[in-house]
Amino acid sequence: MTSKLLTNARGAFADRNPNSRKYYDEARRYLPGGHTRTVLTHAPFPLAFVAGNESWLHDADGHTYIDMLGDYTAGLLGHSEHRVIDAVSAALKINTSVGGIHPAEGTLAKLMCERFDLDRVRFTNSGSEANLMAITTALQATGRDKIMVFHGGYHGGLLYFASGVAPWNAPYNFVVAPYNDVDRASELIFEHGATLAAVIMEPMLGSGGCVPAEKIFAQRVFADAKTVGAVTIADEVMTSRHGASGLFSLLGVRPDISTFGKYIGGGFSFGAFGGRAALLDQFDTSPEAGRDRVVAHAGTFNNNISSMTAGCVVLRDIFTAEVAVRHTSRGEEFREAVAAVTARSGLPVCVSGFGSMMSLHALSHPPRNAVDMGLRDADLQETIFLGLLERGVYSAARGMMNLSITVTDDQLAAVLDALTETLASLNRDGHCSPKR
Ligand SMILES: Cc1ncc(COP(=O)(O)O)c(C=O)c1O
Repeated sequence: MTSKLLTNARGAFADRNPNSRKYYDEARRYLPGGHTRTVLTHAPFPLAFVAGNESWLHDADGHTYIDMLGDYTAGLLGHSEHRVIDAVSAALKINTSVGGIHPAEGTLAKLMCERFDLDRVRFTNSGSEANLMAITTALQATGRDKIMVFHGGYHGGLLYFASGVAPWNAPYNFVVAPYNDVDRASELIFEHGATLAAVIMEPMLGSGGCVPAEKIFAQRVFADAKTVGAVTIADEVMTSRHGASGLFSLLGVRPDISTFGKYIGGGFSFGAFGGRAALLDQFDTSPEAGRDRVVAHAGTFNNNISSMTAGCVVLRDIFTAEVAVRHTSRGEEFREAVAAVTARSGLPVCVSGFGSMMSLHALSHPPRNAVDMGLRDADLQETIFLGLLERGVYSAARGMMNLSITVTDDQLAAVLDALTETLASLNRDGHCSPKR
């Protein structure tokens, strides 16, 4: 049953946001659920934003928020990165859409290979597509049919494992293993060894609550996968922002294939998969390659001018390896400050994550897997989210926060104050379920 506090918080939210409600109600006539991104859904309705600059967001009712969501990691650069806007505008003035090679495509491929230690790379339109193509690469290369995934994982709209295999997933033959349970995962790898084409893993469950993989888990699972001849796929769609070359590299693991997306497109749609030449060269349809067996990978917008141009500016001029390393440390420091606030609150609330990605949880201890995530107090979780919104902080309803490179120290201090006040008000108003 919904608590009185939560009912009141939802009512206050609705009263404050009549214009967002209007956009939502009108859109629902044509868009099931009022929008096209399931993740945006929350009660009573999601906010409509009309503008943004740096790490500020402005909604349809005249409120300004500190953007602590960073578009679920795609908004790493903030809302007004002129180097990207100028480069894309200049490129689009020359050409908008071309059924041929565009020079930025090869440049971005080189930047990606050098930065993320890939032999070869291919572009897609989204992270979802990149993962589907990475799985296809493994299926074709091995001639096997099973794909190991992890409970709580998310690899795209058709690769959804929050509670096991979603019924709408792409029709692969999945083996679901528990996250951060090295013995069980290893047992399953050897049990299915001869038919296992790939193991796909996020180095930190992103949608699944910013739950980092333990080093031993990531290392042994991928080592065991290699032993049975399965392809290791690192889903770095969210986590390639960490450190100089992504989170798997920080965990000391070199996968066969890595997948990318989100911020690399600088706000434009983006996806990529890349890795070992022996696997990626299946896509080499060139006459010189003279291969008798090739895999086709078409896609009208794979090399679209906006995303290719933006990607070059992002990796070469803005989010360089040095900036990425500094941003990771800054995120670590901020998460520690958040942890100090949650610990002082006396409520069953904590924070998990790595670097500039983190999540608040209505739990007394940071989760290690999807089972822990299922123990969150859903009412308290939502009340905290609405409390932060009321105090001018925009995060994900599920608790996720991602630092953009434009967020200022003053903004981060204001977020800590807003969280302190939100938790204090919950204590005052009697949300005092004992620490779990
Ligand atoms: C780890 C991970 N993989 C894949 C995807 C899918 O990317 P896209 O939304 O670009 O399809 C997401 C999206 O949130 C993700 O978090």
